[in-house]
Amino acid sequence: MRISVIGCGYLGAVHAACMAKLGHDVVGIDVDENKIADLAAGHAPFFEPGLENLLLEVQETGRLTFTSDMSRAHGSDVHFICVGTPQKKGENAADMTYVDAATQALLPYLHSGDLVVGKSTVPVGTAARLAEMVQAHEPGAHLAWNPEFLREGHAVKDTLTPDRFVYGVPGGSEDHAAVAVLDEVYATPLGMGTQRLVADYATAELVKAAANSFLATKISFINAMAEVCEATGADVTVLADAIGLDDRIGRKFLNAGIGFGGGCLPKDIRAFMARAGELGADQALTFLREVDAINMRRRSRTVELARDLCGGTLMGQRITVLGAAFKPDSDDVRDSPALSIAAQLQLQGAVVTVSDPQSLGNAARRFPELNYVANTAEALNNADAVLLLTEWKEYRDLDPFETGTLVKQMRILDGRNVLDLQKWRAAGWSIRGIGRP
Ligand code: UDX
Repeated sequence: MRISVIGCGYLGAVHAACMAKLGHDVVGIDVDENKIADLAAGHAPFFEPGLENLLLEVQETGRLTFTSDMSRAHGSDVHFICVGTPQKKGENAADMTYVDAATQALLPYLHSGDLVVGKSTVPVGTAARLAEMVQAHEPGAHLAWNPEFLREGHAVKDTLTPDRFVYGVPGGSEDHAAVAVLDEVYATPLGMGTQRLVADYATAELVKAAANSFLATKISFINAMAEVCEATGADVTVLADAIGLDDRIGRKFLNAGIGFGGGCLPKDIRAFMARAGELGADQALTFLREVDAINMRRRSRTVELARDLCGGTLMGQRITVLGAAFKPDSDDVRDSPALSIAAQLQLQGAVVTVSDPQSLGNAARRFPELNYVANTAEALNNADAVLLLTEWKEYRDLDPFETGTLVKQMRILDGRNVLDLQKWRAAGWSIRGIGRP
């Protein structure tokens, strides 16, 4: 099929490459000329395992091109809208500027029979509104909502072999023309047994908001348990293992630590609350306010733990923060708890050095006042305390004896509960976890 992908950020660049991998002819379109130049040269403008190889592989076939010229959407059968919906400045609601602008810019190039497919995470009601816009311009074109569930760091795999496809179409009817078109787009994964559900627009939009809210709630639940564990001397990691063995609960997303961040969960739960408020259903989502509050409290709690570790004051303490990205295998620092904690420590008088395998460039743009050192051993040199805040494999595998020879004082806070406390203590370290005795 001929496909255009509008918006080539985390979602769109991966989607474009994966659609070409599935055998389609794809044009990726973005207003950012630098991003387009990078992608056209086979470079991913962000770190995502496997993406660069995939870009090179599919570009060699001639099935994938990139452009900033929207008129190249002309002639495609399917147009995916993959632009961002960030949090509005000073408000909880999602900023719909990019989705609206992308759809508007696409209108002149639509033909009868074309399918516009929204993948961005949007407030419920958006699909119906955009469908009206599309049909007012080209009555023979359709719009479907097909939310994306990819995780950064696993984006290629999640796009090629997702857990499920959700198609939102008017009335939620299996017989709607868009269903057959999307089945053709995703023929390969569907053939491999991936489930697909057809729903009405509102349900499809809500699936994404509900899924992210559930994940955020699971993380904040275990972080709330970590607070109780800290008050009682219990161990939240053992607690999580034990409740996780109940398959109604499950162990995934029960890792207590410094909390969730990134470009999705924090802003998505806030936008969901804002939208529910507009719809008069705000009471239903009051619990998400608590989920957000528990999550943000983790950051101040970690600063307190760091202060304790440093003997009661942060003033002049040389602290090395390992990890700046919001999670491992990503260079994304949007709303990263690690970086926010590093900045708070510095504000409270510590001398902070931050290290990360991939995200230092992005981190330095966001917090230029922090000191960044790429090499781990160099970053650890002479530290009064170490904080492991993003669980990159390199940090999980640190050897306590070797690390002990680099630092000034053997004090470490494991903000992701990934280190073996006994092993580190046996090597002479003073070590703290989150919600652990
Ligand atoms: C998330 C959703 O998982 C994905 O389905 C959706 O499409 C986009 O948002 P992503 O933002 O890539 O994906 O990250 P995710 O793996 O969900 O992690 C989010 C945050 O939660 C990270 O900061 C991570 O460190 C934290 N986390 C995750 C925990 O603190 N504990 C856990 O047990 C799991």
